[in-house]
Amino acid sequence: MFEDKGVNKILYGGDYNPEQWDEATRDRDMIMLPEAGVDIVTINVFSWARLQLSENDYDFSDLDSIVKRVTEKGMKICMGTSTAAYPAWMAKKYPDILRVDFEGRKKKYGFRHNACPNSPSYRKYSVLLTKRLAEHFANQDNIVIWHINNEYGGACYCENCERAFREWLKDKYHTLDRLNSAWNTAFWSHTYYDWDEIVVPNELSEFQGGKRSQFTGITLDYMRFNSDSMLQNYIDERNAIKEVISDALCTTNMMNVFKGLDYRKWAKEIDVASWDNYPQKFTSPYFDAFAHELIRGLKGGKPFMLMEQAPSMTSWMPINSLKRPGQMRRFSYEAVAHGADTLMFFQMRQSPAGAEMYHSAIIDHSGRDDTRVFRECKAFGEELKKLGKIPLGGVAEAKCAIIFDWPTWWAFEDASGLPSGVRYPDEALRYYRALFESNVPVDIIGPEDDLSKYRLVIAPLFYMVGDKVKDRMAGYVKNGGTLLFTYYSGCVDENAHILQGGYPGSLKELIGARIEERDLLYEDMEHFKCDGVWLPEHVDDMTNSFSYKGVEYPAYKVCDIMYSEGAEVLAVFNEDFYAKQPAVTKNKLGKGSVYYIATCSSNRFYSKLMKDLCDEAGVKDVMDNPVGYVEEWGGVEVAARADDDKTVYYLINHTDEEKEVLFPFDGEELTENIRIECGKSVMLEGTGVKVICVR
Ligand code: GLA
Ligand code: ZN
Repeated sequence: MFEDKGVNKILYGGDYNPEQWDEATRDRDMIMLPEAGVDIVTINVFSWARLQLSENDYDFSDLDSIVKRVTEKGMKICMGTSTAAYPAWMAKKYPDILRVDFEGRKKKYGFRHNACPNSPSYRKYSVLLTKRLAEHFANQDNIVIWHINNEYGGACYCENCERAFREWLKDKYHTLDRLNSAWNTAFWSHTYYDWDEIVVPNELSEFQGGKRSQFTGITLDYMRFNSDSMLQNYIDERNAIKEVISDALCTTNMMNVFKGLDYRKWAKEIDVASWDNYPQKFTSPYFDAFAHELIRGLKGGKPFMLMEQAPSMTSWMPINSLKRPGQMRRFSYEAVAHGADTLMFFQMRQSPAGAEMYHSAIIDHSGRDDTRVFRECKAFGEELKKLGKIPLGGVAEAKCAIIFDWPTWWAFEDASGLPSGVRYPDEALRYYRALFESNVPVDIIGPEDDLSKYRLVIAPLFYMVGDKVKDRMAGYVKNGGTLLFTYYSGCVDENAHILQGGYPGSLKELIGARIEERDLLYEDMEHFKCDGVWLPEHVDDMTNSFSYKGVEYPAYKVCDIMYSEGAEVLAVFNEDFYAKQPAVTKNKLGKGSVYYIATCSSNRFYSKLMKDLCDEAGVKDVMDNPVGYVEEWGGVEVAARADDDKTVYYLINHTDEEKEVLFPFDGEELTENIRIECGKSVMLEGTGVKVICVR
């Protein structure tokens, strides 16, 4: 990703905030960080108040001295723009920069990630600062990428946003008639006769104590608008940089499986995808892997930057777990295995005070270079040097894809009447886990992406169906693809209007069945407490069940009551008035088939189903073996990245016990320089990783 900037290894380093320290400490950093193998620092992420002292008083001298120091040490720079936290004087002078929250309260100065995206002052001063930075550092050759803002997120409901929302709506709908129809405003007498009657959907308007909006149309558009508003902030800064440095690369660090912003839309404006990974002790390895695939998929599978991870503990959880010896290395290789070309930390040195003073760093409060964490970081830094450029650039080649879409997520989770225990990402994760545990490479793609390179496509909770999507899916299946939908698919169009004519709307022909009713099962009474709904003393948890290939599996949360119209019925429900009606169907269409899973079930079921579908669709695991049925995962992940002349395999032991993997190729283990013979066992110590290059 940075070859033309002289980079020929995984860049290693991360957030460095020396503004907090004196000269002597900075000098020590410049000895200790290179000693730890650090060759890139992310600087200037939160320095606005120091860069701009007042309206016309800019001072980059401290930043200059930081840049000079790290440049002298030969380090690369990931240059922040400092616009994720504005100075206090700016908030006092230009209060339009302060957000109004969901409850309608005007915020005071404080915190970070706090600017109203539609504040004229914020838009003006963030761009001015970025432009000056770009001009100032236009010839700074060791800047490999610009890091715009930081973890965009949140929302604002101020009057500027309200006005901007109306403009956004005019742009989208042109006429009020079209808006009224798209939002079905005839319901509850919401018809608008003037654009100015439209107000932001928040606690004061369409929520009013409820967790879900009472008006999906406006709420869905506000999610889109808020995401677009912040994206515009990003674009404004990016343009300011590129006007000065035309070949600059720009990114902003994303956050995991994050609901607030339509990252797929954002990715079109971003040069290199990057994200921040903060697994805790209880985070399952498949969850991290899913997030890596999600971010990689945003740029069509190209390598991404791991912008931040913690060397050890974070500081923002109620209880922050320590990374055990070896875990940082393990998580790092997992990132690389799924497409990361940089491994960066938050942070280089621990803060002396403030919100993140207990967050881990390469250099901790002791300042020593013989702490466990420093030694581990250093050893890993050396290892990465040894690997050189071999891990870089290759792609994870997948024949299986999962569709994941932000507007669908928003429409599904914000509409009233849908079960509160069903979260959109969870359904994708259910299928992903099964594939992950079988070492099947997976891409996470959008509904508009090309399906033709996949043999198996999973469309979990394909609730919202865009105009053209259905025909493209039909084409994919007729050409031999295998496609899977789950319950709640085919319900609404892009305006969250019910697709008329019965469920699953326009997907009926594909699925070969119709769905008449939907049984929602009580399962977790806590959800009802949260929603403030009447809570009975006791309700037995309800499940149904179905039998698939002779084995009974539970049915949770949702049971679609289906009638086949041509689809083969592979499993039926066992209980209730819809006993004997389909739970799993398969519809042949052209050369391919469409599966429908009418309920939510156990891991055992998904493992079995994914094995069967992979076999049928000709999807192999990453080592080219037929996909096995994994009843209980052994805790070893195998993932790979390939380019023209080699494939690099990562064998990652997510357990504390020694494990063995039968490796089916001749290769070379790169961290220990050991020859690996085809068909022999490779031993992995607890938390161990082997990196095997096969040519
Ligand atoms: C986020 C931010 C960083 C820092 C870390 C701490 O990812 O981007 O500035 O706060 O969290 O984990
Ligand atoms: Zn606002």
